[in-house]
Amino acid sequence: MDEPKPRPPEGPANPATIIRNFLAEHSIGDVFRLKVEQYLGALVRGFPGFVGVGLRYGLYKILFKRLDGFAFIYAGARLDHVRGIQAGRALSINCGAFISGRGGLTMGNGVLIGPNAVVVTTEHSFAGDRPVSEQGHELRPVTIGDDVWIGANAVILAGVSVATGTVIAAGAVVGKDTEAYTIVGGVPARVLGRREGAPRLPS
Ligand SMILES: CC(C)(COP(=O)(O)OP(=O)(O)OC[C@H]1O[C@@H](n2cnc3c(N)ncnc32)[C@H](O)[C@@H]1OP(=O)(O)O)[C@@H](O)C(=O)NCCC(=O)NCCS
Repeated sequence: MDEPKPRPPEGPANPATIIRNFLAEHSIGDVFRLKVEQYLGALVRGFPGFVGVGLRYGLYKILFKRLDGFAFIYAGARLDHVRGIQAGRALSINCGAFISGRGGLTMGNGVLIGPNAVVVTTEHSFAGDRPVSEQGHELRPVTIGDDVWIGANAVILAGVSVATGTVIAAGAVVGKDTEAYTIVGGVPARVLGRREGAPRLPS
């Protein structure tokens, strides 16, 4: 006998379902913090020049879970759920980058994030029996070591550990952990080489 065919999911979730799901995943404190970061972030996001860099540093020094040293956050970078972000010294985030701390993001010292790069720390659940928009999120922390350069338009997916010294080529999609001092690129990202003169680390 033929297997019964799975019922196709009904149409897209309505706005009330989306709002209900959002509230189910966030406490009142989370919602308050998110609104504060969204409104204050919007005020300083586009502010130009050194004054803008200083304003963004001041704001995120307060709102990040931890920020050890000065951070150069260029105009137009978009930071989300910043209470989940921890960063070391000499962080640099270029214009147009999107960085989410929702699932937890920990960065070492000297992390450079290129223009339009994306770091996500959540995935939608996507079982086939319901619209994706009705399902919750999976939170998966991302760790980025010291001395990491993330090229323009690269995407770091949720749950990935980017090892110390990694260079991520422009446009890469990084879905797996990287090895220290490698250069990775492509979709999905693969090892392209190793940084010249890199220290040998114990395996
Ligand atoms: C990764 C990068 C640093 C490598 O530079 P490089 O060592 O001079 O690399 P090369 O041009 O010699 O290329 C080495 C190999 O990597 C490949 N490669 C280089 N860049 C790549 C990319 N973005 N995606 C996929 N493969 C790439 C090359 O095709 C080449 O492969 P082959 O050996 O099979 O021919 C550079 O290509 C890059 O992406 N830089 C990011 C620039 C950027 O985003 N700037 C924004 C300022 S923050």
